[in-house]
Amino acid sequence: MWAYVKFGMHRSIYLAACAASVAVVFFISFPFLERRTVTQNSIMARRSTQAFLAASAAAATYAQNVLDLSSIEWSVTTPNFSDISVAGKIPSHVHLDLFAADVIGPPLYSLNEFDLRWIAFSNWTYKSAPITSLEASVNTTWLVFNGLDTFTSIELCGQHVASTNNQFRQYYFDVSTILNACGSPTLSINFGSAPIIANATAALPGQETWPAGVEQLYEFPNRQYIRKEQSDFGWDWGPAFAPAGIWQPAYVVQLRAAEIYVRNTLVDIYREGQLNLIPPDQSHDWILYTSIDFLSSLTAGAGLRYTLTDKHNTTLLSGQLANVTSNDTTISGSVTIPSGIVELWWPTGMGSQTLYDLTIEIVDFANTSLAVINKRVGFRTIVQNAMPISQEQINQGIAPGNNWHFEINGHEFYAKGSNLIPPDPFWPTVTETRVRHLFNSVVDGNQNMLRVWSSGAYLPDFMYDLADEMGILLWSEFEFGCALYPADPEFLENVAAEVEYQVRRINHHPSLAYWAGGNELENLELRMVNGSLEFPRYLADYEALFLDTIVPILFRNSRSISYSPSSTTNGWLDLDFSKSQPITQRYEDVAPGSIYGNTDFYNYNYAVAFDFTIYPVGRFANEFGFHSMPSLQSWEQAVGPDDLRFDSAPVLLRNHHPPPGGLDIANFAAANMGQAQMTEAAQMYYPVPNTTDTRANFSAWCHTTQIFQADFYKSQIQFYRRGSAKPERQLGSLYWQLNDQWQAPTWAGIEYDGRWKVLHYIAKDIYQPVIIAPFFQKITGDLQIWVISDLWEPVSASIDLAWYDWTGTRLDTDIPASVQIEVGAINGTKVLTTNLNSGYALTDAFLVMDVRTQGSLPNSKETQTFTHRNWFHKDNLSNAKLVDPGLEIAHSSETSKFTVKATKGVAAWVWLDYPSGALLNFDVNAFWLLPGEQREVVYTVKSDSTDGRWVDGVSVRSLWDNTIS
Ligand SMILES: *[C@@H]1O[C@H](CO)[C@@H](O)[C@H](O)[C@H]1NC(C)=O
Ligand SMILES: *[C@@H]1O[C@H](CO)[C@@H](O)[C@H](O)[C@H]1NC(C)=O
Ligand SMILES: *[C@@H]1O[C@H](CO)[C@@H](O)[C@H](O)[C@H]1NC(C)=O
Ligand SMILES: *[C@@H]1O[C@H](CO)[C@@H](O)[C@H](O)[C@H]1NC(C)=O
Repeated sequence: MWAYVKFGMHRSIYLAACAASVAVVFFISFPFLERRTVTQNSIMARRSTQAFLAASAAAATYAQNVLDLSSIEWSVTTPNFSDISVAGKIPSHVHLDLFAADVIGPPLYSLNEFDLRWIAFSNWTYKSAPITSLEASVNTTWLVFNGLDTFTSIELCGQHVASTNNQFRQYYFDVSTILNACGSPTLSINFGSAPIIANATAALPGQETWPAGVEQLYEFPNRQYIRKEQSDFGWDWGPAFAPAGIWQPAYVVQLRAAEIYVRNTLVDIYREGQLNLIPPDQSHDWILYTSIDFLSSLTAGAGLRYTLTDKHNTTLLSGQLANVTSNDTTISGSVTIPSGIVELWWPTGMGSQTLYDLTIEIVDFANTSLAVINKRVGFRTIVQNAMPISQEQINQGIAPGNNWHFEINGHEFYAKGSNLIPPDPFWPTVTETRVRHLFNSVVDGNQNMLRVWSSGAYLPDFMYDLADEMGILLWSEFEFGCALYPADPEFLENVAAEVEYQVRRINHHPSLAYWAGGNELENLELRMVNGSLEFPRYLADYEALFLDTIVPILFRNSRSISYSPSSTTNGWLDLDFSKSQPITQRYEDVAPGSIYGNTDFYNYNYAVAFDFTIYPVGRFANEFGFHSMPSLQSWEQAVGPDDLRFDSAPVLLRNHHPPPGGLDIANFAAANMGQAQMTEAAQMYYPVPNTTDTRANFSAWCHTTQIFQADFYKSQIQFYRRGSAKPERQLGSLYWQLNDQWQAPTWAGIEYDGRWKVLHYIAKDIYQPVIIAPFFQKITGDLQIWVISDLWEPVSASIDLAWYDWTGTRLDTDIPASVQIEVGAINGTKVLTTNLNSGYALTDAFLVMDVRTQGSLPNSKETQTFTHRNWFHKDNLSNAKLVDPGLEIAHSSETSKFTVKATKGVAAWVWLDYPSGALLNFDVNAFWLLPGEQREVVYTVKSDSTDGRWVDGVSVRSLWDNTIS
């Protein structure tokens, strides 16, 4: 996301964020480390359990000595401050180690972001205790780093081993010679200050430069010159810590003759004949291709064996791989898997997530096992289809141009989801438990796809593993965004190594849905320089990186995944697979009346928020949003009690929208505008709180900004979903943004600790398979009502419509009370059009719309009932004569449910709130009740440190509460 560029593409007044926030409690449990250890162990364990391996049991080939560097002691010191020396960890960041040692307070608390800048401006040295467990009688010893963040100089035994400059590469160094001459080896890794090095790199003679503003500047400048998580230098939804450290596992690997160490494994599963970006023939058999990167060397005649087992541990297939080729670093082979043998993997809501265990073994000429690799795989095709619109599609009423949607196993589907940002500024704190909670919320929220935004970090395997299990498609991206990037040979080589490693590491996950080059590069960055005399050079640089460097590597490694250089794009113009880089981009080569590509939309002019005629018409909406405040409970984790005000320094300075554009705290005053957008929007559309209890008032205000946010997103999601029935044949809605990485005003629907904002509940509601939705144009007075379905079969639906006043009295109008309609597969049907300028006096009224239908989810034989209720009011609720709904709430501990009832009047935006100390979500929230209606609300508790007492703190309110002083 981007901030504050005045931009005309979608008639938006301001285009937001080339974007869009700690726990005071840190969850330092080092997920990477646990998993890695498990992998190593399971390799050993599998070996003894695989029957076909028994013959080679005598081989001494597993004696390789792998020392996990987290198992030894480390110290962290800095030349900048001689009095600091603390214990270090792997994986970790300096900030985390300083916090663990009480040298600093919690980095995410209050204004610590600013107070801790000195850490980023200093160099840091991680030094190991003497490494005593090395063996002398080996042939080679290697250092293997799965991730160093970022600029290091590595010394072993006091001798320079190497320097590194890319957070996203795996590094490995043969240190045999150094060790031979060293008695008691110690390892020392010196991290240079990333902000200082970024500046120095920018200042190198001959370095590429761009006009001002092309680099979207958040806090630290010059991030585009370095290969480090771009949001580490600040973003409009997060802090800028620019952390340093050994952020991924690290090992010493010792190998005897003929031993090898597997450092990375590619598995690509695709339909025979499949080409990237082109829908494959679903009747073809599967090709399973694997390619394994190892250290040390293979003797001649090495081969590959494999076994494929299902979840019952039944072996489906096993044998030798064919077409085996190898060189000094890699061995590859493939096998055909007959189509009928395996079940397909489907995303959530479209079928089951069938997974298989694949065991691959590297064997020597005598069929003796040299290494065993286990990967969990799935069989699916996922294509991002940007093919030209066919005559057949035009005949169906689809506008010419190109498609832009995803197809799973040959089926179009409606992608429903949001954009994922790094769940924490410090990745080593991102545990499997945290991600499981987050991903459960994704599935519970009726989302099937996340866009893994491109300027954080490549996700660790455990996150893809969870997505594989839960059926969440992960649109993934290379880590570039909101800038143009250099294209000198050194930079491109560095990127090439990063791409090669990450593509091969991630490709086997069935949840991997797509690769994009970077964030908003084509629709914002290139357009920004399009009028410049230097444009040809900027475009050539862009293509050198995002086409000529990335594509050949990606397509050589993966035939299963589609790619686009930019997240938002008009798509490709031509594909020529006789070339290693087959893609010609369309860019602005567009015909009037034709529709191409996907859309991105931010408009902070809240006055037009609900005017759907300003929303972009495209094939897929991959970014849109507006910010809101987190809850009082989140604020209380992050700021002191006296700071619970919109204009307190900690609250204001944690709003990074619009971005400050540098480190100067004075520039953060820009945040006043971001605060104003939220509060003014709340004031315009809803009654706003005005109570004397300042804490309660702050809480209610935060909540009201969330209502506006949710209402605005709902309006857009309805519009995009209706597009499935319009000439644009719109097939996706991914809003900005799923989650937070600290407690701050951001675009998130889920707060830092996992609490759902109003948005996540509303998105869950409007992402249901069958919805009913109003489309009102203020200027003409036209109101249309649509039913929209993303089921894969046509359904017939019953609709009930009724107008009420705020006391809940039903009004007599001439719109029909009940309507029956048919809705096609992934389509929508207009229920009716009416005009509210004539014949109605409906300023003090609202419409309740209910739809009910029977149908089945894709790939399910079970018939179920789908219902959805929506509401419409012509006038803003700020003008509505709301009455006391007389809300009552009761809890039943037997059924684990709350019952909420409106006893007196209409309750708009009913909200159940729960206190700090527990993490849970209700199955439904932010709903409406008519007088006399009650609703049962089920809850799911994810964690609880209150011993169940949170139940007593649950409260219920509705918008009417904002009107009481
Ligand atoms: C490996 O080391 C052993 C003894 O340590 C030696 O006999 C052998 O020649 C070495 N092999 C290679 C390939 O260096
Ligand atoms: C920090 O490291 C850089 C090299 O990365 C070096 O040039 C600089 O002198 C170091 N600064 C200090 C204070 O040691
Ligand atoms: C980097 O350069 C910017 C100006 O471009 C300056 O404001 C900032 O202080 C410099 N940062 C460092 C770490 O030298
Ligand atoms: C799979 O089968 C092997 C024997 O072939 C057995 O040792 C192992 O425990 C089984 N695993 C599971 C998960 O059942």
